[in-house]
Amino acid sequence: MTTSSRIDPAAKPLRIHVVSIFPDYFAVLDVSLLGKARAAGIVDVRVHDLRGWTDDVHRTVDDAPYGGGPGMVMKPEPWSRAIEAVTRDAPNARLVIPTPSGRRFTQADARQWAADRSPLVFAPARYEGIDARVAEWARSRMAVDELSIGDYVLAGGDTAVVVMIEAVARLLPGFMGNADSPTEESFEAGLLEAPAYTRPAVWRGLEVPPVLLSGDHAAVARWRHEQARRRTAEQRPDLLGPDMPD
Ligand code: ADE
Repeated sequence: MTTSSRIDPAAKPLRIHVVSIFPDYFAVLDVSLLGKARAAGIVDVRVHDLRGWTDDVHRTVDDAPYGGGPGMVMKPEPWSRAIEAVTRDAPNARLVIPTPSGRRFTQADARQWAADRSPLVFAPARYEGIDARVAEWARSRMAVDELSIGDYVLAGGDTAVVVMIEAVARLLPGFMGNADSPTEESFEAGLLEAPAYTRPAVWRGLEVPPVLLSGDHAAVARWRHEQARRRTAEQRPDLLGPDMPD
């Protein structure tokens, strides 16, 4: 299939809402390929200031935790108002709450979001997180994912949102020049990617593996598969389940 036949010019952009107390943080989404994808109508990212849904003069979004302890917790009401407002005409929206306490975000999530194209609403927290009732309340209205991008703690969920948006957007038709590349990379086949080389064939005394210069496509494919398996076994043995094909 050619690149152009996979891109439906009538396809609507994937709608993404981000509600944050640091809307300026998301200026990064205007750069690079993601910025181009927004300009080309492949993704439609709308960033909102959570404080717009507060109703006191100080525009308060946090409060002390019940039960005591350090830090502050994000109040539920501004979040519920924000989520209601951005999903008003999107009954099929999916709410994504980044949190180190969530399930691990993977390529499979990005793939699913890119395929079903439901509007995504990201709710990145600061402080000690969002009052837990927000996720509970939202679950009775829409799909909700509480997701972690890795086993470390960031200062807030905003960076995790940028990571997840980039992961999903690059899978949308038209995002990349080569529409075939998403299927040939790390995680798509359950393996890490084989190493890549470019010219010159000898650089500082180091040679490119000769098979890559052979012109034998079947041999190159076999070599890449073998390298992918070896790399995965060395770096990420957890990915090689017992029923993994050779
Ligand atoms: N917020 C803080 N740390 C996080 C993480 N690792 N993943 C997602 N959201 C977070």
